[in-house]
Amino acid sequence: MDTSVLLTLRDPAGIPFYPVVFQALYILTWALHAAFVLLALGAMGLSLYGTFKQKEDPHWKIMTPHLIQTGKLSVSLLIVLGVAPLLFTQVIYDPNWYTTNALSGMWVFIFIYLLIAAYMLYYWYYYANKAKDGGGKMIGTISFALFVFAGVLMHNFAVTSIMPNEWMNMYAPNGVVDNSGWTFNVEFIRLIFLVSLAVPVVGIFLQNYSRFLSTREDFSKEFIAYTASLGTKLGMVGLIISAVAFVAWMMQIGYLMHPVIIATIVGVLILLFLVATNRNSYITTGVLVVVALLISGVRELTRYDLMANLGYNIYDYPVNLEIPTIVMFLLTFLIMGGVGIAFLLTLAWKVGKSEGVFDGSKDAAVTRLGTYTLAIMSLWMVTFFGWGMSILFKNIL
Ligand code: HEM
Repeated sequence: MDTSVLLTLRDPAGIPFYPVVFQALYILTWALHAAFVLLALGAMGLSLYGTFKQKEDPHWKIMTPHLIQTGKLSVSLLIVLGVAPLLFTQVIYDPNWYTTNALSGMWVFIFIYLLIAAYMLYYWYYYANKAKDGGGKMIGTISFALFVFAGVLMHNFAVTSIMPNEWMNMYAPNGVVDNSGWTFNVEFIRLIFLVSLAVPVVGIFLQNYSRFLSTREDFSKEFIAYTASLGTKLGMVGLIISAVAFVAWMMQIGYLMHPVIIATIVGVLILLFLVATNRNSYITTGVLVVVALLISGVRELTRYDLMANLGYNIYDYPVNLEIPTIVMFLLTFLIMGGVGIAFLLTLAWKVGKSEGVFDGSKDAAVTRLGTYTLAIMSLWMVTFFGWGMSILFKNIL
C-alpha cells in the first residue's frame, strides 16, 4: 500500500488532542466493551445449558434466570461500551475504519439489524423462561447464535481494517471493481481466542456470584458451594483453552517473545492460580481487569506496528489542539461518568445484599449519590446545549 494514499485518507482537520491519549482511551474502552461481550456470551451460553437442567435440579432452577438476566444486562452494556472504542479508532485510524465500512458495507447494515433481532429474541427467551421452567430453549439458542455471528462480523471489520495491502484486491479483484460491500475476512485463531474468553469470564463471574450471595440467609450453603465450584471448573478449563489459543495466535503472527505478550501470559498464569484457589474472587476480578487491558493492548500493539511499517504512524497525526472540547470531554467522562456509575453500583450492591425490598430513599449514601448525579446531569445538559447553541449562533448570525 502506498503510504501517501493512507495519509491522504486522514482527516485534513487533524485531531483535537495528542494521539497517544486517544490510543490509551481506545485500549481502555475496548477492554470494557470486551468484558461485557464475554460476560454476555458466557452467561447466555451457560443459561441455555441451565434450561435443560432447570426442571429437576434446584440449583439450576435458581441460577438459570439469574444468568439470563446477567446476559440481558450485559448486552445493553456491551452496546453502549462499544461506541467509545468506535469513536477513538475512527479518530486515529480513520483510513482503516472508513475503508472497512465501505468494503464490508452490506455486513455493516446487516450487523445493525442482526443485533436488533438478536436482542428482541433475547427478551422473548427471557419471558418464555420466566413463564415456564426450561422454557425458551429454541428461541434462546437462535438469539445466542445471532449474537455469536454479530461477534464474527465485528471480527471481520477489525481484521479487514488491518489489511491495507489487500484493500485494492478486495475493492477490484482482478481489476474489476466490486462495490457489493460483501467483503468478509476471518482469522480463525484470533477469533477462537477472543470468543473462548467467554468461558473463563463466566467462571469468574460465578465465583463472584457465589461470594456475593454467601452473606445472604436465603441462599443455602450447598448452593453457594455448588456455584463456587462450577465457577472454578469453568474458569480453569476456559483459561487453559484461551491460553493455548493465545499462544497459537501470537506464534502465527510472530509476536510470542514480545514483552507485552510475555506480561499477558504471566498475567494469565497468575489468574489461573487465583481461580484455582478461589480465596477471594474480588481480587481475581482485579487481576482479570489487568489481563483484559493487556489483551486490548496486544490488539493495539499489532495494529500500531503494522500501520507504522506501512508509513502510517498515528503519533505523526497532525494535531489541532482544541482545549475546551477536551476539558469538556474529560469532565464528562470523569465527573459525570464517575459519580453516575458510583450511584448505580452502590444501588445495585445494596439491592443485592439486602433480603426483601430495598428502599433507596432510606439509605443515606444512595440518596446522596442520587442527588449528586441528578444535579451534575442537569448542569451538564445546560452547559452542553448552552455552549453548543452559542457556538452555532455565533457561527451563523
Ligand atoms: C453482540 C454484539 C457484539 C459482539 C459479540 C461483539 C464482539 C466483538 C469482538 C469479538 C471484537 C474483536 C474483534 C477482533 O479483534 O478480531 C469486537 C471489536 C469491536 N467492537 Fe464489538 N461486538 C458487538 C457489538 C458491538 C457494538 C454494538 C459496537 C459499537 C457500538 C461494537 C464496537 C466494537 C469496536 C469499535 C471494536 C474494535 C474494532 C477495531 O479495533 O477495529 N461492538 N467486538
